Amino acid sequence: MVEKIQQLLAEIDAFRVASRAEIEQFRVNYLGKKGVITSLFEEFKHVPVEAKKAVGQALNELKTKTREKLDKMNANFEENDEPRERVDLSKPGFPARPGSRHPLSLVRNEILDIFARMGFSVSEGPEIEDDWHNFSALNFPEEHPARDMQDTFFIRKSPDILLHTHTSSVQVRDMENHSLPLRLVTPGRVFRNEAISARAHCIFHQIEALYIDKDVSFADLRQTLDFFAREFFGPETRVRLRPSFFPFTEPSAEMDVSCSLCGGKGCNVCKGTGWLEIMGCGLVDPNVLDLNGIDKEIYSGFALGMGVERVAMLKHGIRDLRLFFENDVRFLEQFTAAGF
Ligand code: DAH
Repeated sequence: MVEKIQQLLAEIDAFRVASRAEIEQFRVNYLGKKGVITSLFEEFKHVPVEAKKAVGQALNELKTKTREKLDKMNANFEENDEPRERVDLSKPGFPARPGSRHPLSLVRNEILDIFARMGFSVSEGPEIEDDWHNFSALNFPEEHPARDMQDTFFIRKSPDILLHTHTSSVQVRDMENHSLPLRLVTPGRVFRNEAISARAHCIFHQIEALYIDKDVSFADLRQTLDFFAREFFGPETRVRLRPSFFPFTEPSAEMDVSCSLCGGKGCNVCKGTGWLEIMGCGLVDPNVLDLNGIDKEIYSGFALGMGVERVAMLKHGIRDLRLFFENDVRFLEQFTAAGF
């Protein structure tokens, strides 16, 4: 009998199954009520007393091994035979949430559109510039503080290669590449080594405009500024110019608009003054025309440059410039919801 048990052990050990039905078959054959092992236990009753110990041990071993084998086969099947995911092709899909334009892009496009209506075409220039285009050709004196390491991100020194600190550098490229008269508006990203705060960032956006023709006067500049301010901030907006200085314009001015948030009465955004500064402007300095090979006896022009974040903040009552760069959907979403 021990021999028979040994044979069965080998048989069970070598057993291989290919399906759950075969595992069940195995269980019934060996461990079922009428199974081989069960009937061996029946036979055990008739085993002579002196053989009982050896046969009993072998029989118990057979039963344990068979159980183990059964558990192992079941476990293997559970691992390998995971129920396949059912795909219900008739289910509706997930709704696609449409993206929206960034508020800075919306404001930039609106400004470009207003200038397009006045006959300005769009020009663009590189963000990486040399000293000539960013400073020298714009009449910056050699020792001007804006050339200082503190403001400018230099990529290389002597000859200087830098990240342009203003879109005015594109004025120079425009004068090189376009024939006169020219009337161009330039959006761009600019870089300055400044501490990041609610009102300043080391990367921001500007829009520059340049108009050069015969007989361009300050009155043309003034008309352009008035038109822009009313179109962009609303028909009630008033404009004021304050004398200022820029190396590339003469005379130079800074332009304020009446605060669109309080209607000019004074609030914490305009610091109680009722006015907000939005851009620098002026008549192109004759030196700049000279430096760029334009006859200053025949031609004159005006230029202006504004910060896009600045005007976007004023228009939409945004109090922290950093919000534009964080890309928090809760912030960005508001510009879609409002239908901008
Ligand atoms: N480039 C100046 C700046 O970044 C802004 C500016 C002032 C641009 C006067 C102009 C201008 O075109 O005429 O601060």
